[in-house]
Amino acid sequence: MTIFVTGGAGFIGSNFIFHMLDRHPEDRIVCLDKLTYAGNLSTLSSVMDNPNFRFVKLDICDREGVYRLFEEEHPDVVVNFAAESHVDRSIENPEIFLQTNILGTQVLMDACRKYGIQRFHQVSTDEVYGDLPLDRPDLFFTEETPIRTSSPYSASKASADLLVLAYHRTYGLPVTISRCSNNYGPYQFPEKLIPLMIANALNDKPLPVYGKGENVRDWLYVEDHCKAIDRILRKGRVGEVYNIGGHNEMRNIDIVRIICKALGKPESLITYVTDRKGHDMRYAIDPAKIHRELGWLPETPFADGIRKTIAWYLENRTWWETILSGEYRDYYEKMYGNR
Ligand code: NAD
Ligand code: TYD
Repeated sequence: MTIFVTGGAGFIGSNFIFHMLDRHPEDRIVCLDKLTYAGNLSTLSSVMDNPNFRFVKLDICDREGVYRLFEEEHPDVVVNFAAESHVDRSIENPEIFLQTNILGTQVLMDACRKYGIQRFHQVSTDEVYGDLPLDRPDLFFTEETPIRTSSPYSASKASADLLVLAYHRTYGLPVTISRCSNNYGPYQFPEKLIPLMIANALNDKPLPVYGKGENVRDWLYVEDHCKAIDRILRKGRVGEVYNIGGHNEMRNIDIVRIICKALGKPESLITYVTDRKGHDMRYAIDPAKIHRELGWLPETPFADGIRKTIAWYLENRTWWETILSGEYRDYYEKMYGNR
């Protein structure tokens, strides 16, 4: 099989490429990535020489370029990770989110229709369901939970999901969608909570916790997410949505404290800053469907996953320090300067 992985120079896409090349050496992987600020070619350096791997710098919104690549490579499967992925950036500038996340998805699906495909898989997020109240621990997101988005990011992802389901119903495109909770692990861009706190703590910089730090996320180790997508590609039912989650709800403040403790840094680094606009309170996935139908369960306990993640950031300082010294510095100043 030839599998197109879009957004493969980013966090989850790169981990997915490593997983697939390792587990399925019979498959060929072609990574399409625009290399935005979040894409990093050095992340893929260990697979660049693999004969089963090809990297192509390409914007998924570039219809001609995408069609050309389909003609050249005849993919059997497309897994779409490419997206603008950071909620805070979407609050500052929604437009690029609508372009890449919605229109880019449309271009990919049009190419799939034109050239034929066995499967188009859309990597989506639990954020399409909005949030849950803190005082109702009995409530979880199921695949039947209504779409109720909060941020321009989640609205763009939900729009793409609806378009994917419409292409299935209208044109019979063989699609699947996965909606996963918050991921953590190696190669996550240091603008997201866990790597940002690790990097700041290592540099003895303030740890900016939004609001009271009581917001809850359901954290999943990235490798478990990759395994779930692999399983959906091979065994999932066409036209279906699968929720993926870690059964691992944690408050932001508790995560930050764990990171301080693991790195031997004082909690006095924690600084409470102005809350995010429209900040979702709690995400919690009910993964019963993917467990029942595909036998998937999260395998990595948070204690192991966070230990491995912190060790990775300690051992790969050059990877994230290069990022921190570039354009990211201006972003950080703008977002956190007088918060
Ligand atoms: P990321 O920001 O780390 O990576 C995104 C990648 O997409 C980058 O390599 C970037 O260069 C590329 N890209 C952006 N625009 C592009 C375009 N127009 N054309 C081609 N490539 C483009 O994101 P991530 O955290 O790895 O997330 C990957 C996907 O998983 C996203 O669709 C996101 O919505 C979804 N998701 C993420 C999480 C999470 O916790 N990170 C959870 C659930 C779902
Ligand atoms: P984030 O990693 O941006 O993921 P998402 O918003 O998609 O869940 O944020 C995770 C949680 O951490 C979210 O509740 C916002 C909070 N947060 C902070 O408190 N401080 C920060 O500097 C960042 C980036 C996030």
